[in-house]
Amino acid sequence: MAHAFAEFFFELTEEYKSDGKQMHIALSGGSTPHLFFDILAAAYTSRINWKNLHIYWGDERMVPESDPDSNYGDARRLLFDKIAIAPVQVHPIIGSNNPELEAKRYSEVLNQLPVKINDIPSFDLIILGMGEDGHTASLFPNQMHLIDSVALCEIAKHPVSAQKRISLTGTVINHARHVAFLITGENKAEVVASIVKKEADSKKYPAAHIAPIAGKMVYYLDQKAATLLT
Ligand code: 6PG
Repeated sequence: MAHAFAEFFFELTEEYKSDGKQMHIALSGGSTPHLFFDILAAAYTSRINWKNLHIYWGDERMVPESDPDSNYGDARRLLFDKIAIAPVQVHPIIGSNNPELEAKRYSEVLNQLPVKINDIPSFDLIILGMGEDGHTASLFPNQMHLIDSVALCEIAKHPVSAQKRISLTGTVINHARHVAFLITGENKAEVVASIVKKEADSKKYPAAHIAPIAGKMVYYLDQKAATLLT
């Protein structure tokens, strides 16, 4: 799955390169993207036109980047420390900041995106993961009101650990030109099937509310996560 997605990612960056356009990409957190980062660092350092890319995050745990929970810390260690990309092109959510102030600051960062649709900043690509409970980014089933928030970023709380997070809202995610879910593992197969098949009760899952209004959405699944799909 990670190799296939790395090729999809490369080809999309090539499209933007040939159009002479910069590309604004939001990365997901969690562990699924790690293999994708490893593959980019191992095989795409010279193939991808990194100076054309601006990197953001779909969500972040409000911890210092040195904390093993930090999504930015993971991506920096696995990828950005290994490629030639200027710091001005990497726009982390600053996990060590005050959450309220950081949500405001990051919303202002997002408002700098060159493309807006309905006055909402539009990413060229948002990469998402999905939890076993159907959450995506840090939009959790017990905080569904954050999905359609008019804000660009919201402060969320992990339902179990109560860890504070900052997350893009569903509003921003659904204004992206491309949305790609990367999902692996048998433990997510039932939720994947419910959402992909648009089953009646799938709307209890935040990931089921991701549907780009003018963009394309793609699921990159491994065999185990896709086991219940024909
Ligand atoms: C986060 C993520 C979150 C993640 C899912 C899946 O910050 O945790 O953005 O939405 O993508 O929880 O996590 P795994 O990839 O670790 O299964």
